[in-house]
This record gives sequence, structure tokens and C-alpha cells, in this order.
Amino acid sequence: MSKLVYVGMSADLIHPGHLNIIKEASKLGKVTIGLLTDKAIASYKRLPTLKYEQRKIVIENIKGVDQVVPQEELDYTRNLEKYKPHFVVHGDDWKTGVQSKTRQKVIDTLAQWDGKLIEVPYTAGISSSQLNQSIKEIGTTPEVRMGKLRRLIYAKPIVKVMEAHNGLTGLIVENSNVEVNGQKREFDAMWLSSLTDSTIKGKPDIEAVDVTSRLHGLNDILEVTTKPIIYDGDTGGIPEHFVFTIRSLERLGVSAIIIEDKTGLKKNSLFGTDIAQTQDSIENFCIKIRAGKKAQVTKDFMIIARIESLILNKGIEDALKRAEAYIAAGADGIMIHSRQKDGKEIMEFCDAYNKLEKRAPLIAVPTSYNHMKEQELIDAGVNVVIYANQLLRAAYPAMMDVAKGILKHERSLEVSNKCMSIKEILELIPGTK
Ligand code: SPV
Ligand code: MG
Repeated sequence: MSKLVYVGMSADLIHPGHLNIIKEASKLGKVTIGLLTDKAIASYKRLPTLKYEQRKIVIENIKGVDQVVPQEELDYTRNLEKYKPHFVVHGDDWKTGVQSKTRQKVIDTLAQWDGKLIEVPYTAGISSSQLNQSIKEIGTTPEVRMGKLRRLIYAKPIVKVMEAHNGLTGLIVENSNVEVNGQKREFDAMWLSSLTDSTIKGKPDIEAVDVTSRLHGLNDILEVTTKPIIYDGDTGGIPEHFVFTIRSLERLGVSAIIIEDKTGLKKNSLFGTDIAQTQDSIENFCIKIRAGKKAQVTKDFMIIARIESLILNKGIEDALKRAEAYIAAGADGIMIHSRQKDGKEIMEFCDAYNKLEKRAPLIAVPTSYNHMKEQELIDAGVNVVIYANQLLRAAYPAMMDVAKGILKHERSLEVSNKCMSIKEILELIPGTK
């Protein structure tokens, strides 16, 4: 009887390294590919370019593959115990780094039935990370970018969204990453904040910067990035105008718009009740949501309803009632906003929200309750976290400081250590040379 050989793979961008592993594995017996699900891959690196179903079609048609089964976690244990393979075959590049623990568990699990781990020398000169970088350089299409947000919400414990207000900050969100405990972290998407879009134009956050003008800024970001975008739609305007905004955003490949249930002259929510703000009626706001959902062309675009009840001290009951009504009207997600520092009312809301019969993805903006870590939000059921304004808030004091320094010293020498060098700025943007 032929032996069972198990190969765990993401198989996103198939390259000769994969084919070599399959070839080596098939010399040992019948090859079962444990194809990592989108969730399993997103748990330790980026979302794959191709969806599970697409990757499955590719891999099951490769010579030497007998069958393809889903592997729901990075950890092999569950599948190994299920299939009890004689061999596991893997590239020898996982001896160090993030996957070294996974590797040890594979060895220990296989030992229970005398199974063996066979490691194939890593194919030099090609890697999925390199290919992924090349794909990023090619860019993206509106359809692919738009669809990514829904995929991320499904695949990640929490989707990390960072504010961007021009091409440069778009590049920061696109490219910045850190490595913590051998694991790479990066932002998943961008937030087009009305507050920062207005502030960079020297205007108040009162819907005075019109949609046409904001789309110009958005276009600059679209040109240099590939990550999905959530657009802050303020109140969305009147339904008759809102439908045109939806069409424009969709055409550009924006993934979602968030509209807030306020009427009249909108002011920024973080003022709270210090200034008079009127909340829209549930009925009216649902009409707007329905009009938007009817106007959208694709199935991927999301309209997210933002509830201002906590901002306006109307209480959790009111917020919940609205969440239910907005979801029933077709909202694809709920953003709950709060300006309380301790975060208690947000936690209370999440708790009750999770018990709703029909729940939609939940979005939180922890500007006031900034002590809360992402894990606490995940535990509370939050699906998307938006860091709504930090890049602009960081840039302004730094620029002010340098401007004042030059005035004080009547030259720029004293502030030069606060500025990046000319060499650095010339090399910052590819193609400057
Ligand atoms: C924005 O970033 O413009 C927002 C979030 O709408 S907040 O400023 O907190 O209201
Ligand atoms: Mg706003």
C-alpha cells in the first residue's frame, strides 16, 4: 500500500520551490496537500492574493498531488491527527523564525505513530515574499482593492485601519511594518478621515470640504497604494446626493463608506455635547442606507452605519435599537463611536450588540479610550479598529516646532537634526532620481 505524505502549503503564488517540494513528496507516496485557509494564512502573515477556492483549483491540478484538504490553522496538529501521514514534507527554511515552533510540534506529533518529517532544501532565488513585493509594485485594480476589505474582515481577528490624508501618508500606511517576536505586523487598510481631510486644507470638519475635493485627495492615495480604503462619508448628505457619492467611490475601488446618523450642520463628534448636534431619526437614516444600497453596483462595496447615540448621551438602549434598525435596512457594518476615556460604555455596548439576532461587523475608533489594546477590542467582538487621526496629529506639532525654530534662530541649522536629510528625502519616493 502506498504511503501517505502530507504537505502543508499556502500555495498562493506557485513557484518552482513549491513544485520541487511536491515532486520530492510524491517520491515517498500519495501526496495530500493541507491547503491553509485564508484565516490560517492571515493569522501569521498577509491575506493571500488568491482566495482559498482559487488556490485549491490551482494546487489540485498540479502533477503529483493526490488530494487537497483544508488546514484551518497554521498549526498542523489537528490535520496530522486526522490523517496520520507516514511523512510530512516541508522546505528546510522553517527551522528558524516564526514557524520553528510549528515545526517542532509536527515532529512531536508524528512521533506518536513513527511518522517522519522530511525537509527539502529551500529553492534559492525565489520566495513568496519576493513575488508578493513584485505584485505590490505592479499595483492593483479597483475591483481587487474593493473586495479586499470583506476578505480581511472574514480572515483576520481584527482589521487594522490607519488614517491617511495624502499620497505620502498613504505610503506610510501601505509600507510601514514592524517585527515583533518574529512576526510581521502591518496595517490592513486606510481611513479617509473627514477631520484630517478638512484640517490639511485649513478648514473645519463641518462638511465644508465637498466630495469632489475629497475625491482629488483620495485619487492621490489610490495612485500610490494597493490597500483597501474606508471613506468617512460624514452624514452622507441628502439621500438624493448620497447615491452619487456611492457610485463615485465604487468606481474608484473604495471598499466602504461610513455615514453617521446626524443631521443639520455636522460638527466633529469628539466635541460631544459641548456644541448642539442633532441626531437623525431612525426612519430617515434608514431611508439613506436603503437608497445607498440600491445605488451600489457591486456586491463587495460596504455601507457602514455610524451610531452617534453614545456621543450625544442618548444611552446604550438607543444605540442598540438603532444598530438593529440600520442592519435591517441593509447596513453592512456598524460603527459605534464614544468619547468616554475609560471605554466602559463601548464595552457595554459591544456586549449587548453581540447578543443581537442579526449582527454585522463592528467598527470601533479608540481615539478617546486609547489605553485599550487591540486584543481587548477583539475579545469584545470588534472586527475593525480605526486609528482615525494620529498621523496628522503627529505631523503638525513637528512642523510647528521646526517653523518656530527657524524664526527664532534666523536660519535652519538649529532644526536640521529634527529634519530628515536631503539625501533621505530624495531617496524616499522611488523614481525621484
Ligand atoms: C474622522 O476621523 O473624521 C471621524 C472620526 O469622523 S472622529 O473624528 O472621531 O469623529
Ligand atoms: Mg469624520
